[in-house]
Amino acid sequence: MGRAFVYVIIGGGVAAGYAAHEFVKRGVAHGELCIISEEPVAPYERPALSKGYLLPEAPARLPSFHCCVGTNEERLAPKWYKENGIELILGTRVKSADVRRKTLLTATGETISYKYLIVATGARALKLEEFGVNGLDAPNVCYLRDLADADRLVDVMQSCSGGNAVVIGGGYIGMECAASLVINKLNATMVFPEAQCMARLFTSRIASYYEEFYQSKGVKFIKGTVLTSFDFSSEGKVTAVNLRDGSKLPADMVVVGIGIRPNTSLFEGQLTMEKGGIKVNGKMQSSNTSVYAIGDVAAFPVKIVGETRRLEHVDSARKSARHAVAAIMEPEKTGEFDYLPFFYSRVFTLSWQFYGDNAGEVVHFGDFSGHTFGAYWINKGHLVGSFLEGGTKEQYEAIAQTTRLKPKIEDLAELERQGLGFALSV
Ligand code: FDA
Ligand code: NAD
Repeated sequence: MGRAFVYVIIGGGVAAGYAAHEFVKRGVAHGELCIISEEPVAPYERPALSKGYLLPEAPARLPSFHCCVGTNEERLAPKWYKENGIELILGTRVKSADVRRKTLLTATGETISYKYLIVATGARALKLEEFGVNGLDAPNVCYLRDLADADRLVDVMQSCSGGNAVVIGGGYIGMECAASLVINKLNATMVFPEAQCMARLFTSRIASYYEEFYQSKGVKFIKGTVLTSFDFSSEGKVTAVNLRDGSKLPADMVVVGIGIRPNTSLFEGQLTMEKGGIKVNGKMQSSNTSVYAIGDVAAFPVKIVGETRRLEHVDSARKSARHAVAAIMEPEKTGEFDYLPFFYSRVFTLSWQFYGDNAGEVVHFGDFSGHTFGAYWINKGHLVGSFLEGGTKEQYEAIAQTTRLKPKIEDLAELERQGLGFALSV
């Protein structure tokens, strides 16, 4: 026995929340839409977990950050789904999917059929075990992907105040968690294999600025090495981290942020994959015309860079979700998704935004010893990417707009001289 819906969303994260909002805006009828999520709570703004959620004073807690407060729109508490006739099946994992039969089987044994399926299963955190390091069961080793992880991190952090935290990974989770650890009065040491933090995006000059800022807050950096093993206490707690370079770091707790893998396993062998995700077209439609994919799990054509990419950021999750729903409900009025990649972060008193693509030559600008500085990326004679730290709303809007226009750049020295003024004048 089972239930049938016109539209089913698998996953209850950011993309699911924004998709639900768009469905309601476009007049979905009561009883037509169902969301199945492994998480026990209604969709929420995941970025809060590494920022407001970890604050020692007045931390953010649900229901304050349910979708769509991240874009200053209405907050979709569980009541909203009920009022709009959306079936929200929480705490339930989808175990298998059959795209030919258009059915899903949940862990509770229910079969759910759909006319249109939206896959919004996001990603999972990579585990140290996958790199041959044991420690998954240790109570003081923390990952951060969902609310349960965040609650655990908060508990462990509070029990280690004044102690030593080792952060494994120099990406987004590493940077944002290291800042939170310091704010919570722990000594934080970051360990990562690259020569600089945020190696996927930052230039070495930008990275140096953040590393120096972090050092001024007491964070230590150990670069160019990885951990090889942990030492454990008799209760199974990690007491030290052993590095490949032979050194040993005492640890009261460990936070691991070593990247993610998209949750595609339900569809392996059923849908075409690319870049580790589900390949979709400009309507977010997969190789099966009844199945759409959005958010972290979707590899979509990013027109402005002329290639298929999988992005792991919240703005892309929100906008790809809205676009897929538009394409499903009003196909003749909906064109190809034309997305300008946008990433951001906020740590301590710092805040940056990036738009476009970090390819080609770099021109830095602004005051790297002060508060406002940035960079442009110039590829094949055109400005393709922009980064700005410490900007105003107008300045961020200007770099976004300029990057979208991909202006021709003939003189890099002149661009450097104009700096932020260039974006403000375009
Ligand atoms: P998301 O991970 O949000 O949701 C996936 C959902 O699917 C989850 O509810 C999961 O339980 C569910 N699911 C998976 N498999 C399932 C199954 N088989 N059955 C049922 N349910 C299933 N980005 C940014 O631009 N700025 C930022 O500041 C941050 N900050 C940030 C902090 C932290 C801690 C994280 C982990 C991530 C960020 N991000 C971010 C990234 C951003 O949050 C991310 O890109 C979006 O959450 C992606 O949205 P999705 O809906 O695709 O996945
Ligand atoms: P990431 O890809 O940003 O960084 C992974 C880091 O892991 C790399 O920088 C590298 O230093 C390190 N690493 C890789 N293999 C390692 C190994 N074997 N040992 C030690 N270090 C290793 O991934 P993340 O920081 O784990 O973030 C997870 C996801 O959450 C990403 O999708 C990210 O986009 C998202 N997120 C985004 C934001 C934001 O946009 N502000 C904030 C938090 C999280």
